[in-house]
Amino acid sequence: MQPPPHPTTTIFRHASQVLTLAGSPYPRAGQAMSELGILADATIVVDDGRIAWIGAHAHLDPKPFRDTQEIDCRGKTLMPAFVDSHTHLVWGGDRKDELEMRLAGQDYEAILAAGGGILSSVRQTRAATEQDLVAQCRTRIERMRRMGTTTFEIKSGYGLDLDTEMRQLHAIRRLSKEGFRVRATCLAAHAVPQEARASNAARSDFVDVVAHEILPAVAKENLADYCDVFCDRGAFTFEESCRVLEAAQQLGFGIRVHAHEFGHTDGVKVATRYHAASADHLLYLNDGERASLREAEVVATLLPGTSLVLGKPFADGRALVDSGVAVAVATDCNPGSCGLENLALVLALACYGCRLSPAEAICATTHNAAASLGYAGEVGRLEVGMSGDILILDTADYRDLVYHAGSPLVQEVYASGARVR
Ligand code: NIG
Ligand code: FE
Repeated sequence: MQPPPHPTTTIFRHASQVLTLAGSPYPRAGQAMSELGILADATIVVDDGRIAWIGAHAHLDPKPFRDTQEIDCRGKTLMPAFVDSHTHLVWGGDRKDELEMRLAGQDYEAILAAGGGILSSVRQTRAATEQDLVAQCRTRIERMRRMGTTTFEIKSGYGLDLDTEMRQLHAIRRLSKEGFRVRATCLAAHAVPQEARASNAARSDFVDVVAHEILPAVAKENLADYCDVFCDRGAFTFEESCRVLEAAQQLGFGIRVHAHEFGHTDGVKVATRYHAASADHLLYLNDGERASLREAEVVATLLPGTSLVLGKPFADGRALVDSGVAVAVATDCNPGSCGLENLALVLALACYGCRLSPAEAICATTHNAAASLGYAGEVGRLEVGMSGDILILDTADYRDLVYHAGSPLVQEVYASGARVR
């Protein structure tokens, strides 16, 4: 993020609660997910975009800070801004017709198999200019920022050809140059494109194109931090996913995997084999798979908005936390399976659907999400030196985010110390 145009010092005074999440920069598992490092009657000083001081208000020595703007936070909660670690925010057109079809009883996977679903978004995204993609994505990001998210992971995956995948990633780069904090992920292996569905040979050729043409071109321009693959029923097999990720690893990308969204397939095996930073969705898991995620230190990213929208089961977040896996929660915002942009609402779904506690869900949408993106040194915790990405909640008790889910509790949003809402 750009620093504010005229660097100022902001003092957030006398907050009833400050959720610092102070502590380890690594993804947190088990009991550590509940430890929010709460300070009462506390104050934060943000200077030149970064946290310069944080502690009990009684200990604040205001003298070293000049030209300050003061915000009275009595009755409010301060917490780290949200980090949305799984989105597909760059797409052309929409699929509101499919939403109505699904609400009338049609099945998401059947719509995809018939050439709709992701393939419909591919057609619409291929037809869009980079300028259109940037403008539409900016609108979404700005809306999400107003609801408290200041850090984003954004995937490509609606091109499934070299030109369009590159155009999506260029759009993401443009937005990051505008000052949004973004990690980019190449998801060229999101679906088998229509033109590669005629034969097994064509399908295999497409996997080769992803591994040996698209990923090297993306690496050459340094357009993505991560490579993702959709390893699931109706998408890519274990063997195909490995071919893509083998190349990705050689090219130096971090790895993320869409896994176990529709069936009990091999996604976890893929994620652990390539030491993925994150395995995402995870609706169908057994104890052995939870143990292998824990041992391989893969963050489990839950996307309960998608379960809600598709009418699928919720991932068992309780079992993941209890078995010592570090859990993150994200929106999955995309044109088809989940258009939800409000991570505060999805946080509440992670409690009601995935059975996380409110404290665990806060950790999952801030620090753990940041850590899964390699941003743990910047955002997700409120500690001296961290970026001033802070929310003021209009409540003295953070549990209201779940208790009153959907209410407008995110009152003010700061990104790198600058107010964006
Ligand atoms: O995470 N599972 C694959 N990708 C998305 C869906 C994308 C779409 O429907 O356009 C997901 O749910
Ligand atoms: Fe997704």
